[in-house]
Amino acid sequence: MPGPLDVLPVADGIGLPWDVPVDDAVGAIAAARATHGDAFVVRSAGDDYLFTFSATGVESFYALPEDAASKGLADYLMLRRKLPDEVFTGRRLLPAALFRRDDVSSYLVNLAEALDATERELGARGEVDLFALVRRLGHRMGLASWAGPGSADGAAFERLVAAFDVLDGSEAFVHPDAMAAVAASGKRAERAALDDVAAVVDAAVRRQEAGDAPGAGLFGRIVDAWAGEPAEERSRGIAMDVALIHVASMSNLMAALGWAIVDLVADPDRLRLVASGDRELAQRCALESTRLAQRSIMARAVVQPVAFDTGVGVVDVPPGWTIATLLPLLNASAAPGLHEWDPDRWHRHRLADTTALASPMLVTAFGHGRHSCPAQSFSLSAMTMAMIRLCGRYDVTPAWAEYPRSVPAQIGGVARSADPCVIRYARR
Ligand code: HEM
Repeated sequence: MPGPLDVLPVADGIGLPWDVPVDDAVGAIAAARATHGDAFVVRSAGDDYLFTFSATGVESFYALPEDAASKGLADYLMLRRKLPDEVFTGRRLLPAALFRRDDVSSYLVNLAEALDATERELGARGEVDLFALVRRLGHRMGLASWAGPGSADGAAFERLVAAFDVLDGSEAFVHPDAMAAVAASGKRAERAALDDVAAVVDAAVRRQEAGDAPGAGLFGRIVDAWAGEPAEERSRGIAMDVALIHVASMSNLMAALGWAIVDLVADPDRLRLVASGDRELAQRCALESTRLAQRSIMARAVVQPVAFDTGVGVVDVPPGWTIATLLPLLNASAAPGLHEWDPDRWHRHRLADTTALASPMLVTAFGHGRHSCPAQSFSLSAMTMAMIRLCGRYDVTPAWAEYPRSVPAQIGGVARSADPCVIRYARR
């Protein structure tokens, strides 16, 4: 028989960073876990969270059915803190529609072209902030893939980059502490940025209709989905589909690529092998850096009562609660040695040896179960291609003295660097 939730300890005095200012959000949950054990309740600004960290609890978490405990709703509740509702309502093509086989190969062609453009911008030698570099690369690849003809070049590209830097949905979890200011402004900056996206995408639609460009690929499917609607509604609808796809897609991938390069340049032997084109090693490095850079809060919004096994008992969780676990408290500590960067621990997409883990689900880069990342293969291919190209064409030297710090208030997604991470590069 499931028991009532009030058997669980409540971690008093903790607020989540989107509700109250918190210096180190992950550290605060870690401290609560040290005090209360692997299952406890956090009450933040009137919302109730059940945090779970035991092997049984995490396995129960990944087994939760979407119709009772929804990942989609939990994500939406997080992202709507940053993005105007217009981005979510009435969408016809969602980010999950991104991964048809021919789509992925076209994205990788676009990535190769975006890398060409990056090389032209870098020139023969210089210094650059690594995370800014990979972010621009991600914008270019993404916009070439789904924002229509002309959107990844020249002035249109720069306008979209500026708009998407304002819209970056990941701000909702990287700087959750900034969301009160976003709410107070009525999301004014975000609305203006959406108008910019709409203007550029409208021009792309016209270019496509004028026959300047082929109508294939994801952009063609978005345009088709709005066929027959009145001109204004159609144009805005296409632009909002593009906007949601872009904000939902690139930011974690490019942050993970940044950390993969940070880790790789600290290991000259592996760097040499990756630079010479060892894709299999590059993929293991990418997985390992992603594992260590994970700051994801994995959350499910309860919509129907669920009997949830925390590992110390089964409790009834009512609608309105959120069940959550936090990857940074598991990935690097669920077994001895996991705090070290060791690409050899991976075999293909899995850990080669899980015997020291109470459950293989305690560690992950791309998730487990029904909601695991549909973009995993594509993301690893993209990271691998970019690592080989950038490290193969340039000698790269980090300008940082200490391993870069990640943003302490971040709770969710892949870590963002708290400080500029300058690299010096010279073409080989
Ligand atoms: C290195 C890059 C990435 C990492 C580390 C990553 C990680 C993850 C993780 C851990 C989950 C599971 C979350 C959960 O169970 O709550 C997930 C789900 C998801 N990811 Fe990714 N992701 C990456 C790139 C991408 C990209 C490029 C896209 C493109 C749209 C994407 C789209 C999605 C979607 C749509 C889901 C939800 C699947 C579902 O609910 O069934 N991801 N990702």
